[in-house]
Amino acid sequence: MDDLLNVALPKGRLGEKVYAMFEAAGYECPSIKEPGRKLIFENPAAGVRYFWVKPSDVAIYVERGAADIGVAGKDILLEYEPDLYELHDLDVGKCRMAVAAKKDFRDNPARTLRVATKFTNIALKYYHSVGRDIDIIHLNGSIELAPILGLSDVIVDIVETGATLKENDLTVVEEIVPISARLIANKAAYRFKTAAIEGLVGKMREMRQNHD
Ligand code: PRP
Repeated sequence: MDDLLNVALPKGRLGEKVYAMFEAAGYECPSIKEPGRKLIFENPAAGVRYFWVKPSDVAIYVERGAADIGVAGKDILLEYEPDLYELHDLDVGKCRMAVAAKKDFRDNPARTLRVATKFTNIALKYYHSVGRDIDIIHLNGSIELAPILGLSDVIVDIVETGATLKENDLTVVEEIVPISARLIANKAAYRFKTAAIEGLVGKMREMRQNHD
């Protein structure tokens, strides 16, 4: 687009935290804090332009080059396997991808396991790796309802505090993979804006080290 670094931020609580990290690293953009419904903000002095993007769409913007870099959850990267560079673990937005079920669930290996999830690819790969036949039931949200209503035997979903599982009498059966927010880059943009992108990644790494 131009000389500015185009950054796709995930809209919402995580995005605000991530913006604060960019700001602390020297990529401030004061207008982003003004109330309103605007989605694009830029600060030419700091060399950045920010977009607020639905969190699950950030990787699409970056993969296709509509944004040079962005911040996406490892869950989205594992699920959609976009063709882009994963540059840095921001160590925020931490949670786990897990298998959960009703407390009295006992797996019967003789039967195909019914798995409800939003993360079809992650679930298929995980059960393939353990050699278990499954029947995927793809849902778009409120996954916890599925085992309660007998729609599935287990769910594969994100567990953060564990409150949703607890309040619905479900429990973690198996942890699949830890999740956190990652700084990602478009491959062509990385080639053309290497110095700017590496400069930013360097500052982020420094901040993480100081914080550890
Ligand atoms: C996610 C996830 C769980 C919940 C886990 O749902 O699907 O339902 O958060 O968090 P907890 O362990 O802290 O309770 P989200 O809020 O994204 O909504 P969803 O129903 O659309 O998946």
